Amino acid sequence: MTEHPPVAASGFRTSLLEEADGPAHNPTANPTMGEIIAIRFSRRDLLKGALAVSAISATVAPAALLTAESARAAGASAFTFGEVEAGVDENHHVATGYDADVLLRWGDPLFPDAPEFDPTEQSAESQSKQFGYNNDFVGYIPLPDAANPAEHGLLVVNHEYTNEHLMFPGIVTIVEGKAEVAPADKNRVDIEMAAHGGTIAEIRKVDGKWQLVKDSPYNRRITATTEMEITGPAAGSERLKTGADQTGSKVLGTVNNCAGGVTPWGTYIMAEENFHGYFIGELQAGHKETANYERLGVPDATYEWGRFYDRFDLSKEPNEPNRFGWIVEVDPLDANSVPKKRSALGRTKHEGAESIVSKDGRVVFYLGDDERFDYVYKFVTAGTFNANDRAANMNLLDEGTLYVARFAADGTIEWLPLVHGEGQLTAENGFASQADIVIETRKAADLLGATKMDRPEDVQPNPVNGRVYVMLTNNTKRQADQVEPANPRADNAFGHIIEIAEADGDFAATSGKWEVLLQCGDPSVAEVGATFSTETTRNGWFGMPDNCAIDAAGRLWVSTDGNNPKATGRTDGLWAVDTEGDARATSKLFYRVPVGAELCGPTFTPDDQSLFVAVQHPGDGGDDWEPFGRPSYYEDLSTRWPDFKDDVPVRPAVVAITRQGGGKIGA
Ligand code: FEO
Ligand code: CA
Ligand code: CA
Ligand code: CA
Repeated sequence: MTEHPPVAASGFRTSLLEEADGPAHNPTANPTMGEIIAIRFSRRDLLKGALAVSAISATVAPAALLTAESARAAGASAFTFGEVEAGVDENHHVATGYDADVLLRWGDPLFPDAPEFDPTEQSAESQSKQFGYNNDFVGYIPLPDAANPAEHGLLVVNHEYTNEHLMFPGIVTIVEGKAEVAPADKNRVDIEMAAHGGTIAEIRKVDGKWQLVKDSPYNRRITATTEMEITGPAAGSERLKTGADQTGSKVLGTVNNCAGGVTPWGTYIMAEENFHGYFIGELQAGHKETANYERLGVPDATYEWGRFYDRFDLSKEPNEPNRFGWIVEVDPLDANSVPKKRSALGRTKHEGAESIVSKDGRVVFYLGDDERFDYVYKFVTAGTFNANDRAANMNLLDEGTLYVARFAADGTIEWLPLVHGEGQLTAENGFASQADIVIETRKAADLLGATKMDRPEDVQPNPVNGRVYVMLTNNTKRQADQVEPANPRADNAFGHIIEIAEADGDFAATSGKWEVLLQCGDPSVAEVGATFSTETTRNGWFGMPDNCAIDAAGRLWVSTDGNNPKATGRTDGLWAVDTEGDARATSKLFYRVPVGAELCGPTFTPDDQSLFVAVQHPGDGGDDWEPFGRPSYYEDLSTRWPDFKDDVPVRPAVVAITRQGGGKIGA
C-alpha cells in the first residue's frame, strides 16, 4: 500500500522541476543531474549537503558520488533507451520504440464460463472467475512443454488488497470535502474476499503480442477462502488451532499478498504482508497472544470482514491471526493443488521471497519484513535442489535455517540463525519450540540484535554478478539519533538500496559485506542527500524503491511506490539502475504509471524480450468510482485508465512491454 511522504518532508520543493522542464518527449535534450546541479549548486555545496546528511554512508559507498566528468569519461551505462519524461497525467508511458499493452485487468474473465466484467452487477461468484484487484507480484513460469519457453508460460499474479471506493459505485459520500465510504454489507465483503489472493493464467505470444489462453487447464483463482495447508514447524501448534480447525494445519485463504517469487523448481510464492488489517475485535484481557499481536499491529480493522466472518474477530477466534503472515507456496502446474503456508520461513509482514540456488545446491530465499525498523531475513533450505526431478523439491521449504541480518558499521553483514535452543532463543525467553520462534519471528530477531531497517521490501539475488539488492522504501520516523550506516538518513522519505556481497560469492554464507548502492530522492536538493550518479537526468532519479527485477543480463530494474506527484512532479514507475563500473548508481526512467498508481511486479521472460509490470491502485488518493467534477487529491488530475470509459471504473492491470520490431528490453 502506498504511504505518501509528507509534502513538506525534507524541505522538499518542486521549483527545480518546473524550471528545468525541457521540450516534452525529447529525452536527449534533458540536462543530466550533473548539469542541473552545476547550475544550482557548486560542487562543494553538493558534497557538503550530501555528506552532512549521510557522512557515514558516503564512506561506505564512494562509487555513488561520481563526478560528472569521471562518469562521462568512462561512463557506459548498460542501458540504451530514450528515457521517458518524468511527469504526471492520466495515462501510462513507456520509452520510445516500445509497446506497453494492457494484458489483464481487474474483472477480466479467466475461464470460458466466467462472466464478462460488469462493475454495477459484480458478485463474489463472478469475481472468483475473474482477474482480481490490485495486482502486485508478477512471475512468469515457462510451461514445461512450450515450444518456445519465452513465449508461452504461466503468469502468476498476486492481488494484494482492495480499494472499495474505486471498485463499487455509490458507496462514497463527500462530507465537508472529505470522502466517506459506506459500511460494507456481506455481499461487498464476499466480493472483496474473492478479489484478493492470486491468479494463475496461461499466456502466449502470438504475432508478437501476448494473450490469455482462456480455456487453459492451468488457469486458477486463489482467494481469501481457498483451502490451504500450514506446513513446517508451526503446523499443528496449539497456537494455530481454531474452532473450525482442531488440527492447527488447515486454513482458509491468503490475504495481502504483496510481492512473492518463483522458485527454481517453478512454484509460485505469495507473501502475506499487512494481514493485521483484516482483523477486528479484542482479545480477552491477559490473553497469551497479546504481546505477539501488539508487535504486529493486530487488529487494525482496515476491513470489515470480521463483522460477517467470526474468524476475523479476535474476540471470537483469538488464534486466527497466527494463521496469517506466512510465505505461501503454490504449484501452478496443478490447478487442484493445495497451497502450502511454509511456516519455516517465519511469520512477519512478508514483502516477498526471491530465491536462488547456492553453490552447494541448497536454495536461499531472501525476505523483507516491510515495517519501519523491522528486519531483512534469509532462509536456507536443508536439502538441495534437484534439477532433474521437480517432485523431489516440493517440500524443500519445510526444513532449513531462518536467519536475520545484522548490518555492522564496518560494512560487514552477519546472518544470525533463528534456531530454537541457540543463544537467547530458549524457553526462559518464551520460545518453547521452533514453532514459537517462527510464530513470533520478530520477537526472536529483536532478541538477537538484528539491524532495524527502513522498511525492507523486495530483496533480490542477482545470479550474474553474485550480489543481492535490498529495497528499503522509506522511514520518516527514523530520528537523528537512530541514524546508523545501513540506514544513513534521519526522516528518510525517499528510501535507499543496499547491495550485499555474500562471503565467497556463496548465497548460503552466514556473513558477507554490504554497501549502500543508492540513497534515493532528488539529487538536486542537497539536503535530501541522494546519491545518484551525476549522469542521471532529472527524469532518472526516483524515491521509494519497492520491487525490483534482475534481467537475464544481470541488470537491475527498480519499481517504486509512493511518489507523490504534488511533491515530486512525477508518478511512480520503473527505473533501470546501473550497478557496474563507472556508470554505477546511474538511473533512467523506462516506464511510468497513471496518476494515483504505484508500480509492482516487474518481471522478464527468459529471453529479456518481454517485460511484465503491474499497475496497482491507479486513481487512488483522489478519485472514487464517480470522480466527475469531484475534488481530487491531485486537484485537476484523475484517471479512468485503462479503459477511459465513463461507465467503467479505473482498473488495476498487468501490462506487457515489448520492443517494436522485437529485441531485448532496454538493451
Ligand atoms: Fe505491499 Fe511492502 O508493499
Ligand atoms: Ca507497495
Ligand atoms: Ca511492495
Ligand atoms: Ca522481485
